[in-house]
Amino acid sequence: MSEYVIDDRDMPKFRVNRAAMTDPAVLERERERIFDRTWLYIGHETELTKRNDFLTRNVAGRPMIFFRDHEGKIQVWANSCPHRGAMLCREKQGNARFMTCFYHGWAFNNAGKMVSMPSDEAYGPDFDRPGLAAPARVDSYRGFVFVSFDPEVEELVEYLAGAREYIDLVMDQSEVGMRVVPGTHEYSVKANWKLLVENSVDGYHAITTHQRYFEMIVAARGEIPAGALARSSSLDLGNGHAVAVGEPVGDGLLGRPLSEAAKAERAARFARLRERYGDAWVDRMDGTRNLIIFPNLVLIDLVMGVVVRKIDPVTPDYMEVTGWELVPAEDGPELTRHRLDDYLTFWGPGGLATPDDVEALETCQRSFATRAELPWSDISRGMNTASPVSTDELQMRVFWRRWNALVTGEQLPDEPHDPPSAFYLGQRREPAEGVVAAADA
Ligand code: FES
Ligand code: FE
Repeated sequence: MSEYVIDDRDMPKFRVNRAAMTDPAVLERERERIFDRTWLYIGHETELTKRNDFLTRNVAGRPMIFFRDHEGKIQVWANSCPHRGAMLCREKQGNARFMTCFYHGWAFNNAGKMVSMPSDEAYGPDFDRPGLAAPARVDSYRGFVFVSFDPEVEELVEYLAGAREYIDLVMDQSEVGMRVVPGTHEYSVKANWKLLVENSVDGYHAITTHQRYFEMIVAARGEIPAGALARSSSLDLGNGHAVAVGEPVGDGLLGRPLSEAAKAERAARFARLRERYGDAWVDRMDGTRNLIIFPNLVLIDLVMGVVVRKIDPVTPDYMEVTGWELVPAEDGPELTRHRLDDYLTFWGPGGLATPDDVEALETCQRSFATRAELPWSDISRGMNTASPVSTDELQMRVFWRRWNALVTGEQLPDEPHDPPSAFYLGQRREPAEGVVAAADA
């Protein structure tokens, strides 16, 4: 049995040892066995709208440059000069055909090739001029760009397994393509990174931790539809990916009421999407989903907009978080304003949700100092039910079983549950021949 996970199917109970959140040796192992071996999100292609656009990003603590090169191709480069190591790019973002290292002046184009170096006669004519270094693998799915530091990693589409379908449900909501709104929400939490992974798919905490938010929603919209949270499901998507999904509730369970014009705009688009993809798929699309893509990418689609969240460990008790808002590119100004307002109201630095979550996670981490007295956290909710819902904890156990397999080598069997109801199995009707989905064009 692993020293970190108790998975007792008879009781049933599932426990995680709090040392997994506090021990520096665990983070070392996570870096080697998870972050050096899986696919990690760096950014979305729509963040680089023009040729030569770039963004600098950390991926698992490694500084990278995320580029659209002069031919329009997505590139990812290690942000380190091959000469003696200075950080090649110290800007957060910009547009550049070339980058010149500020230390000794070596220059590179955005396809990674060295183009000049001061006084290069000292190197001789046969000198092998190094270019920029790339991670072992770079690939994308529906515009989500991932890198892997493992040349042997499985193909991205296989790695994503059942999560692909949920990415499709997010990306098919636009007729012209979803786009990331410019601007980044960056924050840090004095807690272990896995606590935020859990929290991002945790329906159980919503009503208690975010009581004020729900009071505000009730005040703005009237009562929350009875039983709304119960019409949900928690699903294992394979490879450590999991989702908590909710069925559609009117024009959304969360967010402030839409204006009549914004409601009409959204309804007209969904009617056209029904024509294109069929009711079964669009009914699913119209619901909600909190999706973990193992290990550290989260997509939260709560009708009022889609949060893309990347979670990076720094030390066992400190993480950095980056969030973006993904919206249909054709949204009019009213819907965009509404979504951004919802983002700020719920997720923002002064919002009614994220600060509460940060407080909850930081108190967990501080209280782990009592781990000699209380070594185990409990994540058993819904183990004995036939069809776990989003207020259960199957989605977290799926993450932890994969974590445990990679970190300790212990393979635990999947949890047996009933297959999801027909609603969650609805498939996309493929566009008629000759019609190319705009999002993929
Ligand atoms: Fe970049 Fe010397 S370290 S040119
Ligand atoms: Fe929360």
